[in-house]
Amino acid sequence: MSDDVLIVSGGSPLKGEVRVRGAKNLVSKAMVATVLGESPSRMYDVPRIRDVEIVRGLLELHGVKVTNGDLDGELRFDPSNVERAGIDEINVHAGSSRIPILLCGPLLHRLGHAFIPDLGGCHIGPRPIDYHLEALRRFGAVVDKTPEGLHLSAPDGLHGIKYELDYPSVGATEQILLTAVRAEGVTELSNAAVEPEIIDLICILQKMGAIIKVHTNRVIEIQGVPRLGGFSHRPIPDRIEAASWASAALATRGDITVKGARQADMTTYLNVFRSIGGEFEIDDNPVDGGIRFWHPGGDLRPVALETDVHPGFMTDWQQPLVVALTQANGLSVVHETVYEKRFGYTSALNQMGAHIQVFQDCLGGTPCRFGRMGFRHSAVIAGPAKLHATDLVIPDLRAGFSHLIAALAAEGTSRVHGVDLINRGYEDFEAKLAGLGATVSR
Ligand code: EPU
Repeated sequence: MSDDVLIVSGGSPLKGEVRVRGAKNLVSKAMVATVLGESPSRMYDVPRIRDVEIVRGLLELHGVKVTNGDLDGELRFDPSNVERAGIDEINVHAGSSRIPILLCGPLLHRLGHAFIPDLGGCHIGPRPIDYHLEALRRFGAVVDKTPEGLHLSAPDGLHGIKYELDYPSVGATEQILLTAVRAEGVTELSNAAVEPEIIDLICILQKMGAIIKVHTNRVIEIQGVPRLGGFSHRPIPDRIEAASWASAALATRGDITVKGARQADMTTYLNVFRSIGGEFEIDDNPVDGGIRFWHPGGDLRPVALETDVHPGFMTDWQQPLVVALTQANGLSVVHETVYEKRFGYTSALNQMGAHIQVFQDCLGGTPCRFGRMGFRHSAVIAGPAKLHATDLVIPDLRAGFSHLIAALAAEGTSRVHGVDLINRGYEDFEAKLAGLGATVSR
């Protein structure tokens, strides 16, 4: 029997406390930023997840000395000897994560050359990198696409640009920030993403010596500086993980306190949670605070929502919440406007007894860029549905967590295959589940 299977006996409410640490989607970028500095950096509250290990491996290949600090979750980075890494060694990481693409600017600044392996990440659409490459070329990079990966050089250095993104892409905004901070002159980025993780990355870059102004209307202006130092930083908490546990509480009629969760990053989620009938209580204590989420009993209400860039409803909150919506009394409508193929996981939920239909039309919201393109990017969820146990195969990180929640909400014993994928973004999830009273075993 494969070890990568979790046996889940569902049907009982999850109750108890979990803690979230630094946000995966900030920590991994902050680790890349350390390469830009000429002195050591330090980060606290780093979760033990696969994505952090992958980025650590890549940094070490490039000569960054990464060590564990004295505190649990503390990592130290010494980038004084950044050096070129072998293509074969880098390619060991091919297909494992999307973070390597963000090394382009930092490596070009430090070494004048970068090699980027094939990217990985979740299979939730084609996930192109055209914005990244176009911006890098405008900065002055020469990009050579080869079968083994991307080779980049900057024979005439990197110079500030005026650039407008077609769509406020998180990754492309980070790419431009990480390149512009040490490019010569001023960069003006319009239609930038302004997710809290990006603002936290800007805070880190400012600690390193960068000059970055965030204007109104998604405009970010970066004044390039010749040199950056290190930083010491405690990252913002993982609002995706926090919402995942909140949705698990709702779907299993449970009661979960998420220590470390912060209201300011989650107001949009909290509004939806409350509209559905979930209850929450916020403890603002900076040391030991968090948010308690619970199902108050009775029926949940359906909702119509669309995912969007910040401050909209995050696409990564969508999948776990849909499991809870299968238990709401009536028809819910979810319009996914960030990724064109993020409803693949719903067929497994239907096998478990859910009633979810996916449509190509833009339902329940304003038309998005995927309308009339043939992508099934809207879902109608009819509830309440009695979920029953089944065999599940996890397709990607967030969908995987939603499968897990469905198995926990369903009566009977499910076998969830491919659970190791969940370790990419959820620290110690099996121990956390056990702490919440779930019956899970390998
Ligand atoms: N896009 C392009 N061209 C580009 C870049 C993006 O067309 O060059 C499109 C994408 O195809 C997508 C949209 O723009 O349709 C948004 O993509 P974005 O670049 O914002 O996403 P990302 O940076 O690749 C990060 C997170 C995702 C999260 C999105 C949106 C990381 C490592 N990943 O991805 O998180 O869903 O932003 O908030 O930060 C996850 O954690 O499970 C995850 C998938």
